[in-house]
Amino acid sequence: MKITKVKAVYYSATGNAKKVVEAIAGTMAKELDVPMESYDFTLPKNRTEVQVYGPEDLVVFGTPVYAGRVPNKMLPVVQGNFKGEGALAVPVVVFGNRNFDNGLIELRNELENNGFHTVAGAGIATSHVFSDVIAPGRPDEKDMALIEEFAKKAARKVSEMTEIPAPIAVRGDDPVGPYYTPLGTDGKPAVFLKAKPLTNMELCDGCGICAQVCPMGSINPENCAEVTGICIKCQACIKKCPKKAKYFDDPAFLSHVAMLEQNYTRRAEPEMFL
Ligand SMILES: Cc1cc2nc3c(=O)[nH]c(=O)nc-3n(C[C@H](O)[C@H](O)[C@H](O)COP(=O)(O)O)c2cc1C
Ligand code: SF4
Ligand code: SF4
Repeated sequence: MKITKVKAVYYSATGNAKKVVEAIAGTMAKELDVPMESYDFTLPKNRTEVQVYGPEDLVVFGTPVYAGRVPNKMLPVVQGNFKGEGALAVPVVVFGNRNFDNGLIELRNELENNGFHTVAGAGIATSHVFSDVIAPGRPDEKDMALIEEFAKKAARKVSEMTEIPAPIAVRGDDPVGPYYTPLGTDGKPAVFLKAKPLTNMELCDGCGICAQVCPMGSINPENCAEVTGICIKCQACIKKCPKKAKYFDDPAFLSHVAMLEQNYTRRAEPEMFL
């Protein structure tokens, strides 16, 4: 199959999906000897235009898994803003060491519905944005070596391909199953949909970074302590605040994080599909 460009396309609130998607796309571009370009749709300003691809494009498309699926607030963006028009695609999800559940198969199905032909796929274990003790430092060297090997094999598959294959077979339920229900330490559902980050005003210097990095555009730039819109708990404001002034104190959210720390510190391995 003739490919003239590789695109790394991703939503990545705290950088793990970006790192993995760009590594896969970069290696595939190198192997295919074509240029690589990135398109980051994390911020609202990059979700205003529809991106149209074509048969000579190969798109490595990635998101994190939220509640075992593609982040639900990004699903309409995935569905509406990207037209494959015959482009090849590699769906990639990153997950915080618990499980990617139905996230990868959902992303594969959405890309196929949008006119992409999926040729490989990956579910990559990473650090969990909710906790510093769940898979810290991942993807690590071992992960990156596996990712490179996968990308090389995927590039070889593409270059040897003479016709469009069936959608790549990946792990997950089809039709896609329900969202994962977060649990607390008591084993009961932890309901924290309405939780929003708080700001320690003794630490905050009003730099405005948190407002700039919120994927929902939900932090008031004039008053960064005020969350005016929906919070998807992505942790971008928490991780990127230089003064460590942001935090969650919602008991249900903290109980879910504690449950994850009790049960999901074992090493989950990446899963690749070719
Ligand atoms: C709201 C939310 C829900 C999440 N749900 C899951 C999950 O179901 N399973 C899992 O293993 N990780 C889960 N994670 C962890 C992220 O998938 C993981 O940390 C990912 O690397 C974040 O990607 P990013 O750095 O590109 O934002 C969740 C994270 C958030 C913010
Ligand atoms: S990023 Fe941190 S220090 Fe800067 S305005 Fe936001 S809360 Fe304050
Ligand atoms: S306010 Fe919520 S949605 Fe916005 S960056 Fe912070 S955690 Fe993410």
